[in-house]
Amino acid sequence: MSVPVVAVTRQIPSPGIAPLQQAGFEVRYRDVDAACPTAELAELVGPAAGLFCLLSERVDAALLDAAPNLRIVANMAVGFDNIDVPACTERGVMVTNTPDVLTDATADLTWALLLAVARRIGEGERLVRAGGWSGWRPGELLGTSLGGKTLGIFGMGKIGSAVARRAVGFEMDVIYHNRRVVPGSSAAYVSFADLLARSDVLVLNAPSTAETRQVIDAAALGAMKHTALLVNTARGPLVDEAALVDALRSGVIAGAGLDVYEAEPAVHPGLRELDNVVLLPHLGSATHEARAAMVQLACDNLVAVLNGELPLSSVTSLR
Ligand code: DGY
Repeated sequence: MSVPVVAVTRQIPSPGIAPLQQAGFEVRYRDVDAACPTAELAELVGPAAGLFCLLSERVDAALLDAAPNLRIVANMAVGFDNIDVPACTERGVMVTNTPDVLTDATADLTWALLLAVARRIGEGERLVRAGGWSGWRPGELLGTSLGGKTLGIFGMGKIGSAVARRAVGFEMDVIYHNRRVVPGSSAAYVSFADLLARSDVLVLNAPSTAETRQVIDAAALGAMKHTALLVNTARGPLVDEAALVDALRSGVIAGAGLDVYEAEPAVHPGLRELDNVVLLPHLGSATHEARAAMVQLACDNLVAVLNGELPLSSVTSLR
């Protein structure tokens, strides 16, 4: 019996490809710390039965057609908007992702960003680093207290719920809007209109889908409080970046913290000019622990499916 070929599209952190080698697969490892260009991707994946990919690679019908032996696409991310899932399903290709193992890391980062915006950490850091700090002043860089304020969460899945749990320590009231009410949640379910109108801090934790695309547009921003802060650690396409720039410039909302962008790695130039926005380079799950667990889970999914077993975390129900 021939040994299954697994293609790994770019350099991955520890444990790396060791679990795939231990499983006896032939690993085509593109050991390069950069996204794989489309033409190279097709060549890499061509003979593969398994694909280990990341959100920097687009898996579409054209790529699938170039890889007729493919049985599984294992995405090393919880989000899978880089993958054409219906095209995979049509061809009998299983799609897996890496939920759970990054929930806490992403919720922590959401809070880091939220606090950075509320307490103007970026501006303070830039001031000190530039040598512009002249000593303590009672009115310098005043931010917003969180206690007693309302935290609004758009998307109450695992990460949204973990963000909500952390709010207890900050004594915030938590409201949320979701496709459906989450049983057992201590946060209050509200309509989208109420979420916009009542949130002092609005955090986005929903996946990127046709339904959530630009859910935060000029109208939504206009419906928020002038003092409100927006935090996005989900996916860039949830926000109309040009409308956000206008809203931040004109004081429609007070500030924003972004970890994700509409067309990564491009960042709207208007955002970079503004002081009332904190910008991070998609660091949600970037801890040693979370990334190692994501690699391991993606590998475990590949091993399971290529050995004819059920994956640990699949996006598709196909078998
Ligand atoms: C994900 O998993 O979807 C993150 O955006 C990357 O960790």
